[in-house]
Amino acid sequence: MLDGVLQPLIANATSSIVILSLTLLLAYLCYALFSHPLSHIPGPLHRRLSSIPLLVSNYRGTESSQAASLHAKYGPIVLLGPNDVHINDGGAIAPIYVEKGGFRKAPYYHSTDIDGLQTIFSTTDPEYRAVRAKAVAPIFATSKIQSDGARILHDCADDFVAALKKAKNGVHEIDLIDLARRYSLDAMSGYVFGKRYGAFTDYTGTETLSATPYVNFIQAFTRFFLVPNWILGYLLAFLGSVYPNQEFETSTEKVTSYVQSLVDEAKQGGGKDTFQKRLLDVGISEAETMVQCEDAIFAGTDAPGTTLGLLVWNLVKQPEYIRGLRHELTDGPMGNMSLLRATVQEGNRTSLANPVRLPRIVPPQGWTYTPSAGGKKSYHVPAGTAVGISAYSLHLNETTFPSPHEFNPRRWVENGQSIATREMNRDLFAFGAGSRQCIAQNLAMEEMFVVIRRLAESEVLTGAQVVCEEVRLGEWFNTRLRDGCNLKIRWTV
Ligand code: HEM
Repeated sequence: MLDGVLQPLIANATSSIVILSLTLLLAYLCYALFSHPLSHIPGPLHRRLSSIPLLVSNYRGTESSQAASLHAKYGPIVLLGPNDVHINDGGAIAPIYVEKGGFRKAPYYHSTDIDGLQTIFSTTDPEYRAVRAKAVAPIFATSKIQSDGARILHDCADDFVAALKKAKNGVHEIDLIDLARRYSLDAMSGYVFGKRYGAFTDYTGTETLSATPYVNFIQAFTRFFLVPNWILGYLLAFLGSVYPNQEFETSTEKVTSYVQSLVDEAKQGGGKDTFQKRLLDVGISEAETMVQCEDAIFAGTDAPGTTLGLLVWNLVKQPEYIRGLRHELTDGPMGNMSLLRATVQEGNRTSLANPVRLPRIVPPQGWTYTPSAGGKKSYHVPAGTAVGISAYSLHLNETTFPSPHEFNPRRWVENGQSIATREMNRDLFAFGAGSRQCIAQNLAMEEMFVVIRRLAESEVLTGAQVVCEEVRLGEWFNTRLRDGCNLKIRWTV
């Protein structure tokens, strides 16, 4: 009898819940399609409804290629998520990143805070950044790098070439990513911190750089770039307890004790004019100075290592460029663009060390985007939207860079003269743009000029061949070779 009373009630409740859910879903669909402030921005329905597709592509390292497919279908502005917009148009670099200081970095960057502290890279607050960046900026002036840094960079380049020679005459094989990371870390630390990390000390040519597990760990977390920092904190604690990683622990201890030695020396008045001393001198705490140095170790090893590693790998694949560089060093044409500069430019373009969207927040007054390719249509992008451009879209745009996957320094230079179009110069986005572009761009460029020049002089790459003919890159904030690819080279005996 109770059943007779309850059953209709349960049936009624169930159908009410179903009807309510369907009504809510319909209301949400109508809102997303017609009333949402971004409903006029082109994009597929599933991207309008949820951030999950964006988070998944970020995790899987497919964010930029998926954005490229969306652009092919919908045009220069597309929706990546309910509050996320991607633009494929170099003409939008200036308003987003440059004019009036550019839009603020999106809060996503806080996922890269270290130990709860903001770094020069991760902070979204211009005032917080200004104190730190102003203190260290003089170190990164080209004139200072070329005078005070010349000796260190040349010594590191000698070590780079010596390691290649040793491999050529010994085990006949070497991993270019590992070697390029060693060079980048020692060149950066020797110049910026006043004391080389010691990446070439006791290096036999086969083992992995001791800082690598530390660097790889941070790189791996760029899969979660769009996830809030506090969630990452829990994730880290959980993963640390379930999968203790001895290699990472040992590597981090080594990096930390090196950084501690830098900060200790600076506190006692040593390390004049270094990154750490300059930060301490403007009142930054010891704990934060350590974190800023640790962040610079990651930034100064990972992206430059990938860029240089891929650049040398491309030169091994196309030895005519090494011969061209050698010719230029002896009696090359003088002009406004050397083949050396063009080679480094092309390395920056093709390596896609930071391939993804660099997200910024549209300011309170909103922003109107007008595609630079023309057309009458403009798009109002409301305040608070996360908007950005990616190196992937710009560098692989075949209108600006014909045959974009081809490594071709000659697209930049002819007879010592630049033949780059306005769009090519505008759209080279390897270091970002505007007030938040890479603080160490000049250093990174000088590092590459010095080592590529030294490499061309040496002839050590003669007879070398790549082990993997093709490599595939994952599109995380900091790229990484996909599993199964490597940048090893081999000399046949
Ligand atoms: C080929 C080498 C390098 C590449 C491709 C590269 C790339 C980048 C990019 C794309 C940004 C801008 C990120 C954004 O706007 O969201 C950036 C910022 C930054 N990079 Fe680099 N970087 C390189 C070398 C270095 C080195 C050697 C250091 C070490 C000192 C460094 C330290 C930084 C810092 C501190 C920032 C944050 C600047 C700011 O927000 O004010 N980078 N880098």
